[in-house]
Amino acid sequence: MTSTHTRPRLGFLGVGWIGRQRLDAIWQSSVAEVAAIADPAVDDALESLDDLFAADVDGIVIATPSGLHAEQALAALDHGVPVFCQKPLALNAPDARRVVDAARAADRLVGVDFCYRQTEAAQRVKEAVASGSLGDVFAADLVFHNAYGPDKPWFSDPALAGGGCVADLGIHLVDLALWTLGLPQVRTVTARLHGEPLEDYAAVQLELETGTVLRLTCSWWLHAGRDCVLEATFYGTHGGASIRNVNGSFVDFVAERLDGTNTEMLAGPPDDWSGRAVIEWAQRLADGARFDPAAEEYVEVHRVLDLIYGGAR
Ligand SMILES: NC(=O)c1ccc[n+]([C@@H]2O[C@H](COP(=O)([O-])OP(=O)(O)OC[C@H]3O[C@@H](n4cnc5c(N)ncnc54)[C@H](O)[C@@H]3O)[C@@H](O)[C@H]2O)c1
Repeated sequence: MTSTHTRPRLGFLGVGWIGRQRLDAIWQSSVAEVAAIADPAVDDALESLDDLFAADVDGIVIATPSGLHAEQALAALDHGVPVFCQKPLALNAPDARRVVDAARAADRLVGVDFCYRQTEAAQRVKEAVASGSLGDVFAADLVFHNAYGPDKPWFSDPALAGGGCVADLGIHLVDLALWTLGLPQVRTVTARLHGEPLEDYAAVQLELETGTVLRLTCSWWLHAGRDCVLEATFYGTHGGASIRNVNGSFVDFVAERLDGTNTEMLAGPPDDWSGRAVIEWAQRLADGARFDPAAEEYVEVHRVLDLIYGGAR
């Protein structure tokens, strides 16, 4: 990695559906340079991660099928190259631990695209919880149904997908819940998974050390009556706060403050949030950021996912 560039030179590994969006976000932001692209399925792109190393990039944005993430991230960090990775960072907590340990050893930034954190709606709800105005948050209900379901063949290959709707969608709910609540410890996990070999419906209950009970449900191909249902509602002794998508949209969200039978809107569309996490990571890279111990949060999310699967993967 060179340090002479004013803007980091980024390499993009995998530019399918989401990789292309993140590349466009960086391109439009001007925070970093799109220095090289590697994707064997894309004309005029480089072939491999080694080609990106040869292009002397300052950071790598990984958006390949999920089962490739951990080894690709490890290879980059072993080369001293910072990483921004699509979720999931790994297919299990021990592999997520290896990646975070490698980032710490190399003293390099590692980021994961938990993009819903960056919505204005999620930010407002987190603020409401952190301010204490909800009182003691004793319960939360989180839902993520993708009625389309995944449309790529690799999603049905356990080695590449690493799981079904929990690995794909439930991971966002676990992250959103723990991040909103200030990263409490999870004490117990019970889960019911439906569908073989990869679950297409999951109902999960998490009990936190604080006594708070979280109920999570997620699915692929549910008869949800709309493309998407994404909601996260936090109930406190003095009030509630909720994020929910609008009209089945994957991109439009509102945040609401709930008081008894009354609802007050805290945030709503439009909100151009989808590239914010990668732009923030690239900006931190440009500012010279090194390893951030907050990456431990990623390992905790995977520990909870492992408990949800309970050895079923
Ligand atoms: N943050 C989010 O909310 C979010 C949303 C969608 C997808 N994702 C994640 O992003 C990842 C990609 O999903 P997608 O829907 O874009 O998939 P996709 O199939 O559209 O794209 C994957 C791309 O990776 C390329 N690829 C495969 N092997 C490669 C390799 N060894 N080196 C370089 N490129 C390689 C493929 O050719 C393809 O273009 C998945 O892990 C998925 O879970 C995250």
